[in-house]
Amino acid sequence: MNTDLHDQCVLITGASGGIGLATAALLAEQGARLVLHYHTQPERVQRLQQRLETQSIAVQADLRDEQHVEHLFVEALAAFGRIDVVVVNAGIWNKHYHPLHEMTLEQWHETLTTDLTSAFLTCRAFLRHLAQIPRAAAAIILVGSTAALFGEAGHADYSAAKAGMTYGLTLTLKNEIVRLAPRGRVNCICPGWTRTPMASEELANPEAVTQAQATMPLRKIAEPEDVAAAVVFLASDRLAGHVSGAILPLAGGMEGRLLHPETR
Ligand SMILES: NC(=O)c1ccc[n+]([C@@H]2O[C@H](COP(=O)([O-])OP(=O)(O)OC[C@H]3O[C@@H](n4cnc5c(N)ncnc54)[C@H](OP(=O)(O)O)[C@@H]3O)[C@@H](O)[C@H]2O)c1
Repeated sequence: MNTDLHDQCVLITGASGGIGLATAALLAEQGARLVLHYHTQPERVQRLQQRLETQSIAVQADLRDEQHVEHLFVEALAAFGRIDVVVVNAGIWNKHYHPLHEMTLEQWHETLTTDLTSAFLTCRAFLRHLAQIPRAAAAIILVGSTAALFGEAGHADYSAAKAGMTYGLTLTLKNEIVRLAPRGRVNCICPGWTRTPMASEELANPEAVTQAQATMPLRKIAEPEDVAAAVVFLASDRLAGHVSGAILPLAGGMEGRLLHPETR
């Protein structure tokens, strides 16, 4: 299928993570030129680059830091001259179950800064770039979570950050981007449990997997490639050119959470 992503420049934050690597590989198959962002794990991105046939650069940045985000975009533009699509994917999830009355302010700040403020800084840098180099089409794809849709007991920090991305940023920026690029689109994918390093410990527990699958008709833990396919669709102006402001649950039809799992 022709996605028309050939030679488009796509910047992926968190390209060193499970979803980021799969997304980069699939975008490369479409011929996209890639800016592969990583934070602490360059080797993962470098291994991927060795087998990519498309042009790519790897750039380090701590996306909590305004200057780092600016540097990421400076490097990307020095290499490719323009960026057409940004995948806002980097993030953390504190694996410990901390109900709000036990959550520290430090944890709250850490998650909100890493997940939501980094998304703000990344989107802002891209929109500033669009303001400088006018064009018709552009796309932002945010990676939210089912935690934004259903909440997640023990993880209010993550749920609040992802809800900010999913509802606050997606639904606002879809209206702002068209003032800079008339066919600009902003969409959000909300994966449920996905087999990546972030979720590996939880998914090693068969009871946790049973619980996660219990509200899903498809009874499946997503593979990173499932998310990557949705990113490619939303990145493609040819396939998704009339899709903006969509919040796409990617969780096998999940209806909610088990409220009284026996293990808690
Ligand atoms: N896996 C799931 O079950 C699941 C479900 C729903 C949503 N999601 C979302 O999907 C996205 C990707 O997660 P994943 O599962 O692929 O997790 P992952 O494998 O742990 O990858 C996380 C990525 O975020 C980067 N990162 C972390 N802190 C950063 C910081 N301060 N500055 C810049 N980058 C930072 C990491 O960089 P380094 O590795 O280089 O340090 C890594 O590339 C996240 O937003 C996550 O919330 C995941």
